[in-house]
Amino acid sequence: MSQTMTGTTPKIRIRDLHKSFGTKKVLDGVSMDVAQGTSFVVIGGSGSGKSVLLRCILGLITPDSGIIEIDGENVLAAPEKRREKLRSEIGMLFQNAALFDSLTVWENVTFGLLALHKITRKNARNHAGTILAQVGLDPSVGDLYPSELSGGMQKRVGLARAIAAQPNILFFDEPTTGLDPIMGAVIDGLIVDCVKKLGSTAIAITHDMASAQRIGDEAAMLYKGKLIWQGAASSLMNSGNPNSTLESIGTEISAIYQSSQQERSNGQSTTELANLLRRANVVATQTDTLQARLKPYQAVYQNFLDILGKPPGKDDPAEPASITEQRTLLLKKQQDINSRMTRLKLYQVEAQQLTPRGSAL
Ligand SMILES: Nc1ncnc2c1ncn2[C@@H]1O[C@H](COP(=O)(O)OP(=O)(O)OP(=O)(O)O)[C@@H](O)[C@H]1O
Ligand SMILES: [Mg+2]
Repeated sequence: MSQTMTGTTPKIRIRDLHKSFGTKKVLDGVSMDVAQGTSFVVIGGSGSGKSVLLRCILGLITPDSGIIEIDGENVLAAPEKRREKLRSEIGMLFQNAALFDSLTVWENVTFGLLALHKITRKNARNHAGTILAQVGLDPSVGDLYPSELSGGMQKRVGLARAIAAQPNILFFDEPTTGLDPIMGAVIDGLIVDCVKKLGSTAIAITHDMASAQRIGDEAAMLYKGKLIWQGAASSLMNSGNPNSTLESIGTEISAIYQSSQQERSNGQSTTELANLLRRANVVATQTDTLQARLKPYQAVYQNFLDILGKPPGKDDPAEPASITEQRTLLLKKQQDINSRMTRLKLYQVEAQQLTPRGSAL
């Protein structure tokens, strides 16, 4: 059984994990420890391997080499039956909720319990109602089909399904992508409540810095198949502090976009910002000023999300792929005191600049 330096066994311990698909190296030596009862957030650009990492731990993808231990047990060496059992003890909120369209909400929520015969159908209906209430939905929602729900409700149902068996490990794959910032914050709040209530250990993956800071105790950045930075989630970016991580490690690049209230109202900023972000291949955003702001801000923010969802450079064939691979760009949003102007600054952060700050395992 493995031990950390403090002598306690991590809930999840990963060492030197490698996974390639054909010639494409996706995970290139990932190592991390997730302590019992903590929330660990993995951030990284589109296609950086975040979902593959979670799927490896979950046992849905077999890595090429490396170690994955849960409670000190070597999962990869365990017989298939045992792996199945371990898998069933992890609750997962999949990217885009991934609900089964042909099943009702209550069947979706209790799907795992029913499949493992841990509950009768009659009890499952009631149990689903209780769990739905925990995620802020009326139990009557249980009789609807996923297509009848809004995006935010679907995420809640996905969360309900993840916690239905009261797992002691929870995975969240992009829990807030596609939601407006207010609903995103609500879902983050629910996630934090659920994890606390169950005393679970959680791994969440996200593009969204604000979300990472709300959900995470610890955070790590995945870049080119490696975790290149690791530390307290609260130190990811601290917008009010001039010596924040971002400003001390990143170089502000020339692309600064400033818009006035007037421009935002007539939609001009949205288009310009979209072009700016697309050119710059933004992989993460700082969105802390967006919570309760005016509608035009939300329109702009939604545009971030649209762009963040796209693979780098895909829409812009003029941008050579080699440039986008050499840098990580982070966006910082600043607002002047009377909120008339919004300034967006882009920082370029080289992988080498990030590495020395990481607490290497
Ligand atoms: N089953 C698979 N077969 C082949 N390639 C795969 C498979 N799963 C993932 N990949 C590739 O691995 C890379 C990483 O994918 P992954 O889904 O982990 O990215 P991600 O970081 O989760 O991105 P996003 O933020 O867009 O969800 C991608 O290039 C993807 O095409
Ligand atoms: Mg993914």
